[in-house]
Amino acid sequence: MSAGSALILAAGKGTRMRSVRPKVLHTLAGIAMIDLVVDAIRGAGATPTVVVSRDADTVREHLDGVATVVQDPPLGTGHAVQVALPVLPGEGEAFIVYGDTPLLRAETLRQMQQLHRERGAVLTLLSARVPPPSAYGIVERATDGTVTRIVETKPDPELQRTSAERNLGAYVVDLSWLRRAAPRLQRNASGEVYLTDLPALAAADGKVVAAFCLDDPREGMGVNSRDELAAAEALLRARIRERHMLAGVTLRDPASTFIDAGVSIGEDTELLPGTILEGQTRIGRGCVIGPRSRLRDTIVGDRSRIGESYLEGATLEEEVSIGPYCHIRTGTYLARGVDILDHAEIKNSRLGRGTKVHHFSYLGDATIGADVNVGAGTITANYDGKKKLATVIEDGVFLGVDTMLVAPVRIGRRAKTGAGAVVTKDVAPGMLAVGVPARAIKRVVPEADLQ
Ligand code: UD1
Ligand code: CA
Repeated sequence: MSAGSALILAAGKGTRMRSVRPKVLHTLAGIAMIDLVVDAIRGAGATPTVVVSRDADTVREHLDGVATVVQDPPLGTGHAVQVALPVLPGEGEAFIVYGDTPLLRAETLRQMQQLHRERGAVLTLLSARVPPPSAYGIVERATDGTVTRIVETKPDPELQRTSAERNLGAYVVDLSWLRRAAPRLQRNASGEVYLTDLPALAAADGKVVAAFCLDDPREGMGVNSRDELAAAEALLRARIRERHMLAGVTLRDPASTFIDAGVSIGEDTELLPGTILEGQTRIGRGCVIGPRSRLRDTIVGDRSRIGESYLEGATLEEEVSIGPYCHIRTGTYLARGVDILDHAEIKNSRLGRGTKVHHFSYLGDATIGADVNVGAGTITANYDGKKKLATVIEDGVFLGVDTMLVAPVRIGRRAKTGAGAVVTKDVAPGMLAVGVPARAIKRVVPEADLQ
């Protein structure tokens, strides 16, 4: 079942946001409002065309691969449709939705479409009973239930005492009818052309206008200001949490757990209170994350444990253990079984299987092999004031406490450093280097054993 094309209206000024950023690029759960709407439209099987304002270069760039039409100047929602219709392909059904209704689900659009067909309507709108006061247009129906018109109102608490059926701003239309009707929409007293004058036009033509009435108006909520953005984001986050719990993830305290829409989490993973999962983070099965951990664009293998730490742009294989109090930064790759205890900062480094970094370390631009012991207080001095330099630590190395590695430098297989060593030159495999600057003073692993 395909609706063919769809219009998303996003050319309004969005003044109530009080922002230099276009309203539809504000994010909820890590996703721009416009992307949530585009996803819903695609989920309902339609191809979106977005109506944008003349100065919306950022919106157009953001919408890479989605068709756009410029409405200049924006003279109302009806005008937006008048401008876009000539370039909108197709003659069958189309969706029209507002770019500021980010909670709308594809499933609802499909149900609207079904009702549209059952009723033989030229226009079907989405509605719900909304408690007063409300700024949404009021839906008026004839005794047989067909919609006769929409009345735009002010959210006046004095006038509005009872809840009314309200227009939530999503429509299914018959395009061939719309192409004839849209040019007849007039500017009204406010100087704008309202899309919501369409039902009255259809009724005058003797055509059927249907309304699909939701039990819960929140799905159709329009975001016009920061407080509405916060309310919509809270609802979206609740939806996301529920989805993960139904898929087998334990949330010890859902209210303090924040999961972006783009995050995936495996079964039997447990999120402890205060955990924030952002961007494209992917967590495997059977992990324990938190309390108070923040992971951004990070991949975590199965059965890993992360306590009270901040990870961004990192990749962890299975059974990695981190924290508490670590900062794992972009470009870090931790192989299976890496064990990092507290107060480590690791940036753009690769740590091999089973390597341990137990206390107070900074490792930057380092390639570290398997089964390395990084002693407490080890630091890679990776910056000479101009450029970042690499450190290589081969398999089985044992770094004594407080080792300073002045990059570029290489520590050979199974070599050792003494406490407080400042290593400025490469250390050969199997040697012990001590002092400031460090000198290799003896062999600790016989050459034959290094083969
Ligand atoms: C609109 C409806 C109202 C409905 C409410 C639901 C109209 C006249 N009113 O009111 O019945 O209850 O949505 O949320 O349609 N836009 C353009 N070009 C324009 C003006 C607006 O593309 O010239 C876009 C905006 O970017 C926005 C959407 O259309 O995404 C809706 O416009 P907005 O001004 O927010 O309408 P509401 O006052 O919320
Ligand atoms: Ca709105």
